[in-house]
Amino acid sequence: MTAHRPAPAAPRWPLLHAMAAGRDFESYLRKRAATGDPFQVGFPGFPPVLFTGTPEGARELFRVPVPLVTPPRPNPIEPMVGAASLILSAGDRHRTERALLAPALHGQRVRALGTMIRDTALAELESWYRPGDSAPFDALTMARAITRRVILAAVFGPGDGRDADYASAVNTFLDAFTMPLLAAPALRRRGYHPWARFVTARTQLDRLILADIARRRTQGPGTGDLLDLLLAIRYDDGTALTDAELCEQLRTLIVAGHETTATTLTWALYHLHREPGLLTRTTAELAGASDDPAEQASLPLLDAVCLETLRLHPPVPIVLRTLTEPWRWLGVDLAAGQTIGLAVGVLHSSPACWPAPRLFHPDRFLDRKVTPFEYAPFGGGHRRCIGATLAEYELRIVLATVLTTVRLRLVPGLALGGRPRSVPRNLASAPDRAIQFTSAQ
Ligand code: HEM
Repeated sequence: MTAHRPAPAAPRWPLLHAMAAGRDFESYLRKRAATGDPFQVGFPGFPPVLFTGTPEGARELFRVPVPLVTPPRPNPIEPMVGAASLILSAGDRHRTERALLAPALHGQRVRALGTMIRDTALAELESWYRPGDSAPFDALTMARAITRRVILAAVFGPGDGRDADYASAVNTFLDAFTMPLLAAPALRRRGYHPWARFVTARTQLDRLILADIARRRTQGPGTGDLLDLLLAIRYDDGTALTDAELCEQLRTLIVAGHETTATTLTWALYHLHREPGLLTRTTAELAGASDDPAEQASLPLLDAVCLETLRLHPPVPIVLRTLTEPWRWLGVDLAAGQTIGLAVGVLHSSPACWPAPRLFHPDRFLDRKVTPFEYAPFGGGHRRCIGATLAEYELRIVLATVLTTVRLRLVPGLALGGRPRSVPRNLASAPDRAIQFTSAQ
């Protein structure tokens, strides 16, 4: 066990720290990390968190025995996902839910979605892109439309017309959870207009989800989709999920399952189109392959582009665990109730692991293998992202479809200067400004 070290000091003036983090969360965490590792972060309304940004710290975080960690409560994203969400469930309940859902999000089950993912990307491209049209379109809006349709198909099975109902409900819900509501629980109260708007948006989305649950209960099983599996869950005491709990689980899968992937697609398109040499090489690699989604998804350079995008812009910037018993972590003796975490962006920008870390350089992944403790965009251990395989497959197929179907140009302002930054936004970080493209044909 690591030798004892004193606990690092909590930051003074938490409100000022919260404001600095609100302006630029990634660089705030990097500055805190420069004071030593582990480092403390504390904002008003949330208990202080002890963070690491090193591979040793990540290894020790993901290896804390499972019964000794639970998701932190209060949790900034609880209003979005709900208390019954897989993201917040713990112990046997969490184990039962993962055991049932995980097989549907791995291996052959995910590969079977390849053609649907490609067809969805093609259909969306058709509605956003006109050859020769100089009108710009927003990459994140297009990416969200693709990934939303994919996750709806994974959750409810293929169904024409569902996206038309869900599109505006999901987007309004995501946009209503603003940064102040995420960071300041005190604002979540009746009478504060943005909170009321968020609650209304959540009720409207839930109405759609509950109607889908009721239909499935009446009509019987679907195609073995995620809703079928959730309906089949029986906990150790024999109970099943109530409609309200099912609704929160489905809401979680819908929002966690598309916003993160959409943001990553947007960043990947941005970097590819900022670097013509890289775009040419990636397109040439695709031209040498068939249009089989599985083959496209295994191309080395396309793979490296996706890995590098998630390294430089991890959509989930922090991974948290709360101790249920006293534990020594990185030499610091911690009491039960202490929350510990990984600052993913700090880990991904450590010069010891990543030479020139601020550069977008996919080739770094072509000639080396990384450990799960140097690179953790999907977190790790027993709570590693359950949708990681789907997200990775989807990223590659959608990028392959875009690059082999259309020719895009970044709108000049973005192509020439002013680098966009990742900023926290609802469940995932996103570019701080619109990333727009036009036709290059
Ligand atoms: C690029 C895309 C994605 C990224 C970067 C991402 C990242 C993450 C991260 C960092 C975590 C926390 C892991 C931890 O605590 O160790 C997580 C958890 C989770 N993700 Fe994802 N995710 C992505 C896509 C998806 C998709 C497609 C789905 C749904 C199919 C999904 C559903 C979930 C759920 C339900 C959890 C909670 C798992 C648990 O606590 O057991 N995510 N994700």
